[in-house]
Amino acid sequence: MIKDPCLKLQGAGFMKPVKSIHPTVSDSRPVKPVLIYFCKFGTAPILIRSFIMLVDGKHYHSIWLDETDKLVVKVIDQRKLPFFFEIKDLRSVNDVYTAIKEMVVRGAPLIGAAGAFGIYLATLEDKPAADTHRHLRQSADHLITSRPTAVNLPLVIDSVLERLMKIADVNALKEAALDAALETCRSEIERCRKIGVHGLEIIKNISRRKNGGTVNILTHCNAGWLACVDIGTVTAPIYLAHEKGIPLHVWVDETRPVNQGARLTAWELGQQGIKYTLVPDNTGGHLMQHGMVDLVLTGSDRTTRKGDTANKIGTYLKALAARDNDIPFYVALPETSFDFSISDGLAEIKIEKRDSGEVTHVAGLEGGEIKSVRICPEDACAENWGFDVTPARLVTGLITDRGICGASEKDIRKLFPDKFR
Ligand code: MRU
Repeated sequence: MIKDPCLKLQGAGFMKPVKSIHPTVSDSRPVKPVLIYFCKFGTAPILIRSFIMLVDGKHYHSIWLDETDKLVVKVIDQRKLPFFFEIKDLRSVNDVYTAIKEMVVRGAPLIGAAGAFGIYLATLEDKPAADTHRHLRQSADHLITSRPTAVNLPLVIDSVLERLMKIADVNALKEAALDAALETCRSEIERCRKIGVHGLEIIKNISRRKNGGTVNILTHCNAGWLACVDIGTVTAPIYLAHEKGIPLHVWVDETRPVNQGARLTAWELGQQGIKYTLVPDNTGGHLMQHGMVDLVLTGSDRTTRKGDTANKIGTYLKALAARDNDIPFYVALPETSFDFSISDGLAEIKIEKRDSGEVTHVAGLEGGEIKSVRICPEDACAENWGFDVTPARLVTGLITDRGICGASEKDIRKLFPDKFR
């Protein structure tokens, strides 16, 4: 008999068993949300009011510098979640390139941060002093080609590079590159926190309208702390609302073909004690037609100056269904996911095409191992676009670190006047 998964305790303060190979993470211990923590990036700790993103009682960021060996950048291998919690060491630009390309790390803000660390690692590579700047430029160009759609990657890398190109001394360069990478992480965390504060108001309003009844939020892909450095974009308002005691429930799209919803968002929400229900991607329309969704909240990989938004493939269909059912559809994004240089998302955003094997096969846990199984005829022809574009007209609003605005050039310009030339 299949039991209703919603009746199970999902996290609710309790860690689900995660088989671990990491020495500091064991099987299952209670996970408690804590309101205040010190961010470990940088020398002076900064105070952030929020949940600690915990894995088995230990606070993790999605990327960090090894405290005992500053030549090593550490990441959580997201290809292994939720089955195994594994930490991977990145020691070179090529390691970072491969980690981004193969989605060891993924999600727009995180790949931007990884790019910054990639440049730091490039400064450590042994090159004659005269070639250092050229090496950094080549490393940047290489990193930027790892994934084309999320704007955070080129944006962060270019701004880090701009800082470094003014520095000639090799040791000063290494130090400045590390500072820039840590600063990137710190500001991404702070932006997510602010998105949370602004987005919380939307959830509060819905909760008020429902007289305190459960607010049902539908999300696609993973725009949580795993996709960022901490807290997440879409998840920030959710975690804050949960912290405020607002009853919440999240519909988690499985998000084929890679299943970031099923594998990452479900795991992440469970860790934080947020009630969720996993649904196949094509269920959203039905839920909306039956009044089971109050709000659709998605992330962004690249949003144009007019509000067109590229996000994980399938986001557009959710926006269409939301419009047809008069349900608010908000995009949560930091300023680093805007591409202010372009207007027309459909014409100007490059959509990543990925290996068709992600479509023809599905990975899952069997006998204690992650196995990939074919789900179609051996010779099936398959295509794999990673993202689609939701036109601004279908977006109710953008929840940014500077506040909430309409998805139009006029409204975006009001929040980001300094970005419009
Ligand atoms: O292919 P992915 O997993 O990198 O795609 C990620 C998404 O589409 C996220 O929704 C987006 O990057 C926003 S993350 C805060």
